[in-house]
Amino acid sequence: MDIQKIGVVGAGQMGNGIAHVMALAGYNVVMTDISQDALDAAVALIGRNLDRQVSRDKISQDAKDEAMARISTTLTLTDLGQTDLVIEAATERETVKQAIFDELLPHLQPHTILTSNTSSISITRLASRTDRPERFMGFHFMNPVPVMQLVELIRGIATNEETYKACHAVVDRLGKTAASAEDFPAFIVNRILVPMINEAVYTLYEGVGNVKSIDESMKLGANHPMGPLELADFIGLDTCLAIMHVLHDGLADTKYRPCPLLTKYVEAGWLGRKTKRGFYDYR
Ligand code: CAA
Repeated sequence: MDIQKIGVVGAGQMGNGIAHVMALAGYNVVMTDISQDALDAAVALIGRNLDRQVSRDKISQDAKDEAMARISTTLTLTDLGQTDLVIEAATERETVKQAIFDELLPHLQPHTILTSNTSSISITRLASRTDRPERFMGFHFMNPVPVMQLVELIRGIATNEETYKACHAVVDRLGKTAASAEDFPAFIVNRILVPMINEAVYTLYEGVGNVKSIDESMKLGANHPMGPLELADFIGLDTCLAIMHVLHDGLADTKYRPCPLLTKYVEAGWLGRKTKRGFYDYR
């Protein structure tokens, strides 16, 4: 299957990163969001991130200009109708994703592959509510998308081989590595990473260490590029909490109970870098 044109739903930190790498790899990209400000900010950020790659001799000025020219934006979700592959990267709430699919599906071409960048929601369940469960799968990028090498590909129970191969070929063209994960709660990376972050929050909650000592311990003691609390702020505390709930509900094991302190921060609206306050203060 020949994929030329890619639709990206959501212009947030994942969506703009996905548009960036797809356009740089030569795909035509249509990015949509419900907010014009979000679309403008995303295009500006992609421009700055590509400029940084030019200034570090990673790409040429022509490659940057061509990539920018391949990205178009729209507030109208149905403008994604002529794409060959759609990657949904909206808020990590199942009702939001469902509403997007319901609006989009009647306008998609029959051959179009529909994917979700969900970090933990069941692909099989999302797929079952579409008209194309065999052409639906999980396409999960890591943040920051232009830097991280891995993409998890998650087949739902009905995903066909042609769909998997077509998505794998896209990952190959990006120069990234695909990891095939089975459709169980939070897949591979987040099944391992987010309970580690949750445990770091428990370590803070129980007073075993403070924010600085916990992060320094994991950076210097385990060679992690970021401490777990800094990473939680980077991912978004709401996303971390949502993933813990998916693990707790889906695997019914108390070892996945979300730390009450994580819940409290989310209730306070302290979601990390995106709200300028989380375990660290970015104001
Ligand atoms: N967008 C684009 N490029 C970025 C970037 C961003 N947001 N942040 C950093 N970069 C680039 C820089 O330009 C730089 O590029 P070059 O090597 O070409 O010069 C490179 O990344 C390294 O950046 P810095 O030197 O400024 O900073 P650093 O060495 O501290 O690295 C980091 C920054 C790459 C983010 C590093 O701290 C890191 O790897 N952190 C861990 C990230 C991680 O674990 N991500 C996975 C999160 S889990 C997830 O995403 C799944 C989920 O569903 C929740």
